[in-house]
Amino acid sequence: MAQVELDHVWKRYGDFAAVRDFSLRIADGEFIVLVGPSGCGKTTTLRMVAGLEDISQGEIRIDEQVVNHLPPRDRDIAMVFQSYALYPHMNVFDNMAFSLKMRRFPAAGPDGTTALRKLSHADIEKRVRQAAKLLGIEDQLTKKPAQLSGGQRQRVAVGRAIVRNPKVFLFDEPLSNLDAKLRVAMRAELAKLHQALKSTMIYVTHDQAEAMTLGDRVVVMDKGVIQQAQDPQTLYDHPVNRFVAGFIGSPSMNFLDASVRMQDSATFLEFGSFRLRVPEELGPAAAPHAGKGVVFGIRPENLHDRLFAQTVRPDSTLPAKVEVKESMGSDLFLYLKVGDRTVHARMSPATKVDVGSTLDVYFDMTKMHLFEKGTGASIL
Ligand SMILES: Nc1ncnc2c1ncn2[C@@H]1O[C@H](COP(=O)(O)OP(=O)(O)O)[C@@H](O)[C@H]1O
Ligand SMILES: [Mg+2]
Repeated sequence: MAQVELDHVWKRYGDFAAVRDFSLRIADGEFIVLVGPSGCGKTTTLRMVAGLEDISQGEIRIDEQVVNHLPPRDRDIAMVFQSYALYPHMNVFDNMAFSLKMRRFPAAGPDGTTALRKLSHADIEKRVRQAAKLLGIEDQLTKKPAQLSGGQRQRVAVGRAIVRNPKVFLFDEPLSNLDAKLRVAMRAELAKLHQALKSTMIYVTHDQAEAMTLGDRVVVMDKGVIQQAQDPQTLYDHPVNRFVAGFIGSPSMNFLDASVRMQDSATFLEFGSFRLRVPEELGPAAAPHAGKGVVFGIRPENLHDRLFAQTVRPDSTLPAKVEVKESMGSDLFLYLKVGDRTVHARMSPATKVDVGSTLDVYFDMTKMHLFEKGTGASIL
């Protein structure tokens, strides 16, 4: 059992706060992903949990024990870094066994008392072989790191963490050195690994797709501050602000400066000479912002060729000029010009359009988002 709590944690480097008032309770067995742009404080947070970085303020607890001043080796945590840092002169077995040979573990002795003891050769061999089997590298144990592919080296780095049977696994962008295809494959393997081990895992990445696919909960960070910590679908459907809305989802949500206007008891969004009707059920939330500037958000997948739209609500179609067309096979990505604004659309590959032509674009306003212009806070 390993529950990790960060309680109002700060990390300051001089005047600069890299992590600000970070509070999060991570349940036993949970797979937590910290995601955000480079420099937002992910690695710093992870290193504080590991004990590799001092905490400026606040408290970190593992299984209700405050660990602020506990050295890394006593935290029962294993960390997998972006650079695998394998020992080049050791073979795979020795790389995985190394930390086991160096450390002492609590174990019952012949007299029945528990004390810190070195593992026997047989125990080390058993742990390494079990981990190697789990990771599918049993037949690589005598090879040196240089003889392995990137994916195999990555598995060895994970294996080195697994053999220690830690309370908590920490991963810092472990897949970023792999090519795109391998990254997707390893991502699935890590998900399987979590299912098999059921350990608490804290995983850092700047890649929102990795975060969404792996996390039980995803913690979106910006400038050292947690923006939102929720399950992937909630983040996608109900981002709390414009930052999260723009960070989660690919291609990114479209944002258009607009103003809210009421007319004949209907609510509209106006931008340039265009307007879109806010669905009746969403009107009450938008209405208080009448006359004010807002930011209208809509995801590329909620723009449709009017001809293919299942149902078409009134005042929800705008003419758009096709500027760029990207055929992906499964999807058609379009850069569309609506007046002087550019929007990105993800449409059915059945959509037949040419660059330079005009398309009637149906905005599925039931999926619309609205943000305050100044703060970026979500209105709906
Ligand atoms: N030792 C340090 N001294 C000063 N600033 C640091 C130090 N380590 C990290 N930072 C700063 O803290 C911020 C967060 O860094 P980091 O946690 O590595 O970000 P991330 O992992 O999200 O890319 C960055 O602005 C970085 O420059
Ligand atoms: Mg980092």
